[in-house]
Amino acid sequence: MKIKSAIFNMSARDIESAPNWSRPEFAFIGRSNVGKSSMINMLSNKDDLAKVSATPGKTQLLNFFVMNESWSLVDLPGYGYAKVAKSEKIDFNRSVGDYLEQRENLRRVFVLIDSRLPPQPIDIDFVTWLADCVAPFTLVFTKADKQSVSKTQATIKAFLDSIAEHLNGSPPVITSSSRNGAGRMEILKSIELALHS
Ligand code: GTP
Ligand code: MG
Repeated sequence: MKIKSAIFNMSARDIESAPNWSRPEFAFIGRSNVGKSSMINMLSNKDDLAKVSATPGKTQLLNFFVMNESWSLVDLPGYGYAKVAKSEKIDFNRSVGDYLEQRENLRRVFVLIDSRLPPQPIDIDFVTWLADCVAPFTLVFTKADKQSVSKTQATIKAFLDSIAEHLNGSPPVITSSSRNGAGRMEILKSIELALHS
């Protein structure tokens, strides 16, 4: 699928103020700093469509982008940053939870996971929670440019092993790098499939 246009539409504080449209949406979620906004830019072929920062917690609102004038990418605030140290529980903000649970036109969720880290309890908890939501999800292991292919493969295996007891079946997995464009075609292909199903 070719991306012919990518336009920022709006930021919403919560699902009530999200765009009132029926466009299919594809959301990007994961721990703060994992590379969600960078991925939106990579998919769009634009450097600064979504705001990127080396400081975690950059994206605070639900940001909606319209692609090819027909479907939408949604850049969500990350979890696991602000108050998380206080508890092992998932701490993504409520509006993100409402969005993932209730948004009717949400077609697929891409859960981004840092390919350099061993399985993080917060990611395992999040994926376990998400598995009970209606929208299907794909795991995307980010920043693969920072290490060898074999290390990334080891991270993926360890993560899949650690979620296996909580899930029925294994979710689709994509390896990505916003630096070198790895994974871009696979993500767009997955979106295209959902658009035509
Ligand atoms: P929050 O909005 O704070 O939750 O973060 P985010 O998940 O949107 O991450 P963001 O895209 O802002 O990227 C965080 C940092 O990681 C930035 O310094 C990016 O340049 C860097 N980064 C993101 N993706 C990649 C990647 O694929 N490879 C490398 N090497 N760096 C990356
Ligand atoms: Mg961001």
